[in-house]
Amino acid sequence: MIWLKKEAVEMALKDPVRVRSVQPGDLAEVIGIDAGITGMRKPDYWSEILQRYGSGRRRQRFFLVAEAGGRIEGFAIGEVRDWEYGMPPCGWVFAIGVRPDARLAGIGTRLLDAICAGFRRLGVTTVRTILARDNSLILSFFRSQGLMAAPFIALEKDLER
Ligand SMILES: CC(C)(COP(=O)(O)OP(=O)(O)OC[C@H]1O[C@@H](n2cnc3c(N)ncnc32)[C@H](O)[C@@H]1OP(=O)(O)O)[C@@H](O)C(=O)NCCC(=O)NCCS
Repeated sequence: MIWLKKEAVEMALKDPVRVRSVQPGDLAEVIGIDAGITGMRKPDYWSEILQRYGSGRRRQRFFLVAEAGGRIEGFAIGEVRDWEYGMPPCGWVFAIGVRPDARLAGIGTRLLDAICAGFRRLGVTTVRTILARDNSLILSFFRSQGLMAAPFIALEKDLER
């Protein structure tokens, strides 16, 4: 069944998928994909992310898009973080999203592979991410890519109380 879905998505995409660094002209489509996932349009946030992570900004930062036939189908963002709390440099993926009608065709995998290849080129041997524990879709995706529970816990505090 999933194989049939994959084939249908690939046929619908028609054009080959290319993963590349983001360009300023891609931002409107990225904002739209993110809004479809999160239910919120955040143009100011994305302009800031483009400034900080767009191509050529900093060697350790990656903002990649997957494009097919001139349409942006997905994006992924990550960076190498050095010596946080004394831990050796590691690759962090902090956003990934694929258009709903382009999913289950390997685009998320291609994006994550490309970010991990960038991390490896910088000599990093570990990739990490953080996700909402009730988001079973993103959890299934990362688990399928070989990521497992890390020996850390996330802590937070409500600063308005
Ligand atoms: C997670 C996401 C990026 C995956 O993108 P994708 O292009 O569909 O991923 P792939 O096709 O490469 O899937 C790779 C594997 O992930 C797993 N997976 C993906 N979608 C899945 C689903 N709906 N159910 C279960 N497993 C799934 C499967 O193991 C899949 O491999 P398979 O197709 O061989 O079974 C995409 O579903 C998405 O954008 N989801 C919303 C993201 C989100 O919630 N972001 C908020 C936090 S930033």
